[in-house]
Amino acid sequence: MRLDKLFTTVGLLSRKECAAAVRRGRITVNGAVAKAPDLAVDPEGDTVTLDGERVAYARHAYLWLNKPKGYVSATEDGRLPVVTELVPPEYARRGLFPCGRLDRDTEGLLLLTDDGPLTHALLSPKRGVRKVYRFTTEVPLPADAEERLLGGMMLGEVTCRPALLSPNADRLGGTVTLTEGKYHEVKRMMAALGAPLLSLERIAFADIPLDPTLPRGACRPLTDGELAHLKRAALSADNN
Ligand code: URA
Repeated sequence: MRLDKLFTTVGLLSRKECAAAVRRGRITVNGAVAKAPDLAVDPEGDTVTLDGERVAYARHAYLWLNKPKGYVSATEDGRLPVVTELVPPEYARRGLFPCGRLDRDTEGLLLLTDDGPLTHALLSPKRGVRKVYRFTTEVPLPADAEERLLGGMMLGEVTCRPALLSPNADRLGGTVTLTEGKYHEVKRMMAALGAPLLSLERIAFADIPLDPTLPRGACRPLTDGELAHLKRAALSADNN
């Protein structure tokens, strides 16, 4: 990888700033002052410093976003704001994308990453990764809602996987745990039960809860423990 690409990838310097830093002798590679911004470096094997500080390089970036309403789960949309607009500037050149989709009007926990294989594994129906949603409904859930969701609801021609429903005491909503991600699945399930949704928020992904200190619209990197947990969930044949 080129030296300037390393600096733009980790979000420390733009290409222009890297060239200027090289001219001023601020960058070293394996102890020697770097002479050119297009120097080839091994970002994982070589020791690169800026002003004497080692530059930490990670092959992939992983962020939690507390998604607000109004954003499309995509990297671009001709018309509407997209979730990647909420990525902090130091990650802007990473090319992050959302791991799966939350509807435009759904809030809550969404993983943003540039790790394609992990994303693919976490979304694979074979893995059965759990997603928990909190929701409210216009009218109380019917008495047989738990049983119908656990039995695998029919949505049109399609049978859903069993879903665990925990209604609130007033039955005007609750939480539901899914192990798949069909199009508008929670919305369609509740509509089929005769209790259309008022609000929907994802509160856990792969058993990792939404961080209550993460403000709506904000991102934070995953902890090492969270990432290790996600990687384990992605490897398990079936998480249930
Ligand atoms: N189910 C839905 O209906 N919408 C979402 O955004 C997620 C799950």
